[in-house]
Amino acid sequence: APSDLHAQCLETARFIQSRVPEDLRSPAVGVICGSGLGGLADTVESSPRVDIAYSDIPNFPQSTVQGHAGKLVFGYLGESRTPAVLMVGRVHFYEGHNIDKTAFPVRVMNLLGVKNIIVTNAAGGLNPDFQVGDICILNDHINLPGLAGIHPLRGPNAEEFGPRFPPLSDAYDLELRRFAHIAYKKLQLSIPTRRLHEGVYAFVSGPSFETRAECRMLRILGADVVGMSTVPEIIAARHAGMRILAMSLVTNQAVLEPGPRGDAAIVGDAQKIMELGAANHLEVLEAGKMAANDMQSLVRLVVDELPNI
Ligand code: 6GU
Repeated sequence: APSDLHAQCLETARFIQSRVPEDLRSPAVGVICGSGLGGLADTVESSPRVDIAYSDIPNFPQSTVQGHAGKLVFGYLGESRTPAVLMVGRVHFYEGHNIDKTAFPVRVMNLLGVKNIIVTNAAGGLNPDFQVGDICILNDHINLPGLAGIHPLRGPNAEEFGPRFPPLSDAYDLELRRFAHIAYKKLQLSIPTRRLHEGVYAFVSGPSFETRAECRMLRILGADVVGMSTVPEIIAARHAGMRILAMSLVTNQAVLEPGPRGDAAIVGDAQKIMELGAANHLEVLEAGKMAANDMQSLVRLVVDELPNI
């Protein structure tokens, strides 16, 4: 029997296709723009181009977080003029959506014919070598909620998308990662010290930031960055056989040890916390703004590297 999920995604995909001109209906690449990284949409060619608010799309999950205005943008991206669909804003598990809802847009993209997906996010740096403003290409993840049963593929398998037991050992596409390294070399960075790393992303549910002990635990487990998004989408994309590139902008250093940063929490003064650099949403948005242009350029250059289809 056809799955309800597939039928729902199909309804949404058909609605979207009715709004988009033929040449853009089956984009070569999908991009999910993370916190403060939606500026990429401003670089999409202005015509032909279609913006669709999530609130207009049947079955589409609605975002509630500040700084995450929700719309799909269909248009040509980069010098290569690659047909693309951008998600500006995404929903997070911590907003109260079921975990599979956070992956719903990726499945719709799959039905539209998207083969490559680029996922960006703002993340906390756990690896002491990572500086604020650095970029980390994901080469693996630790799905903490997933290991504990909160998993986007839990429930009857939607066979139309993929197998019951999909492997994730090859989730982070080697060729796309290579393209990202090539693109980084071509990139004229706004600051020469912005480095490109590869690393492991720990997915946590949020919405609170991690305690120091939790950060130390994640580090011991082998994580380099930590965040509250991306992994559900990646799992759904991989389930459906899409190729994935995921990149984190390190917007703050997670607090691992007591000391000046740790003391801020004891002081309990919002201004002090800002000064001492404890994780907070404002800081995430600010660093995101400053580094956003470089990250967006990097995504565009990666898109230019993609083989023409
Ligand atoms: Cl420090 N933690 C989490 N979970 N998400 C983040 C973050 C930290 N910084 C940006 N996003």
